[in-house]
Order: sequence, then C-alpha cells, then structure tokens
Amino acid sequence: MPEIDRYVLFGHPVSHSWSPFIHGLFARELGQPLDYQLVDVAPERFRSVALEFFAGGGCGANVTVPHKLAAAELTNGLTPRAQRAGAVNTLAIRGGSVLLGDNTDGTGLVADMKGNLGIKLKGRKLLVLGAGGAARGVLAPLLGEGPDVVMIANRTVSRATELAKAFEDLGNLASGSFEDAGESDWDVVINATSTGLSGQVPPVPESIVRPDSICYDMSYSRNDTPFQRWATARGVQRAYQGWGMLVEQAAEAYLLWRGVRPDTGPVRGALATLSA
Ligand code: ATR
Repeated sequence: MPEIDRYVLFGHPVSHSWSPFIHGLFARELGQPLDYQLVDVAPERFRSVALEFFAGGGCGANVTVPHKLAAAELTNGLTPRAQRAGAVNTLAIRGGSVLLGDNTDGTGLVADMKGNLGIKLKGRKLLVLGAGGAARGVLAPLLGEGPDVVMIANRTVSRATELAKAFEDLGNLASGSFEDAGESDWDVVINATSTGLSGQVPPVPESIVRPDSICYDMSYSRNDTPFQRWATARGVQRAYQGWGMLVEQAAEAYLLWRGVRPDTGPVRGALATLSA
C-alpha cells in the first residue's frame, strides 16, 4: 500500500496552530487523505530537522515564526514572491532534487481582502503599519493590485524607509513615522506590527482613519483584536482580522503542494464558528 503523503508545520512554538485543522478540512473536502503534523523545533535544529523530513519522504511543509528566514536559506529554489519577501512560509519538493521555497502570505492577504471581503485595492490609498517580516511578506502582492500609494509607517522609521526602497520598483511607495502617517487619512489601513501579541496597538494618531476607512489586522484572535477595537472605537465601520488570510495562505500552500486550490469557504465558516 502506498504511504500517505506527509506534511508538517515547522515553528517554535507551534502548539497553538490552526494549520492541522485547516489542512485536514481541505484534504477531506478534496478526498485526498494526508498526514499533517506540528513540529516544534528550536532555531539551532531547524535546518537539520527540515532536511531530515524531506530526505525521509516528506512532501511539503509550512514554516512559521521564527524560521521563515532560515527556510529561505535552506532551499535551492525560490519563487519570485518568496525572493521578494526574503522569507519562506511554504516548502515543497519538486522532482526529487529541488526544495522549492514560496511565500503565500501576501497572496493570502490579497485573496481575503479582495475575494472574501470585497475590498477594492486598485487606485486606493493604503497604509501599512509595521516594517518587519510580516510587512515585507505582503508588500509585493499589495503593490501588484495597483494602489494609488502604499505608505509604510513604523516605530523605527529607518526600517520603513529601507523597506520602501526595496520595493520602489513595484509601485508608488512612501514611508515615515506613525505621526507622518497621521497627516493624511487612508482608504485602507493594514496592521502588520506584532503589537497585538502583547495586547497593544501601535501608537498611531486617530487622524489616520475616517468612518469609511477599512482596517485590517493581519493578526487574529478568538475575540476582536486590540487594533480592531481601536478602529471600531474611532467609528470605523469595517475592521477585520486575519483569519481569512490564514486560510487563504494555507490554500495557496495546498495548491503548491498538490496542484489544486481548495474551496476556502467551508473552512472559513468553521473557523468563524469555532472562534466566535
Ligand atoms: P514580524 O515578523 O511579525 O513582522 P518583526 O520583524 O519583529 O516581526 O517586526 C515587528 C514589527 O512590529 C516591527 O515593525 C516593529 O516595529 P520596530 O521596527 O520599530 O521594532 C513593530 N512593533 C513591535 N512592537 C511594537 C510597539 N510596541 N509599538 C509599535 N510597533 C511595534
């Protein structure tokens, strides 16, 4: 009997992850039995554990914090979007000898915003809060939608400026401090900072939003995130969090691994029920 196809998520920690649930539902929906396990691996062991997994016949892996940069160094092939992101969240074996690295985060964000939430990005003024790995991972797909401008605002302004420079060939970019961002209001504000992890919001002026601005927090939680609450308290009527992005980036990974993109609707519905 053929062995069941094996997939894993490498991270540290990973016990909180919803990925086994999401990929399990995708596999069931498509009638494709597969095995998906969580692998908690410390940074110093990531390389050897990942290589062992693939040498032992593993078919694909998701990669999360803190291994996304190390994963990019492990591969002998990168998709253009992973190259741009400088980080890898999906690994796949190609033809037995190529370990391909991809980054599906940005595509997942755009798929959720456009496809699920009906948010128009073309010609709009976008503000991205944060200039770390999460922001870097989504800039190219966002710019690919043809926004009027994308401003990157960050606590450490030099990181925002560097990021804007690295992507300036892809569109109209601006950068500055949170105060600078407050000199204008924005059609769409995306929180890509890690402040939510500690229950905080980035210290942004209220003037960045108006009631018809759309706020999107890339992090997610069982309840409204601090950034969603911040936005709602300022009268913003549409404030979302990143569950849909999580599911869409997983669907993109599944597509890379197995050549078919699952319908994300049932999984998003299940998560909405479970996280409510
Ligand atoms: P990630 O991979 O999640 O992006 P990161 O690379 O460590 O993680 O980046 C975290 C981001 O959240 C950065 O933009 C960081 O701002 P700095 O570049 O100034 O460090 C931002 N961030 C984290 N804590 C913050 C806080 N308390 N206030 C404002 N920004 C914060």
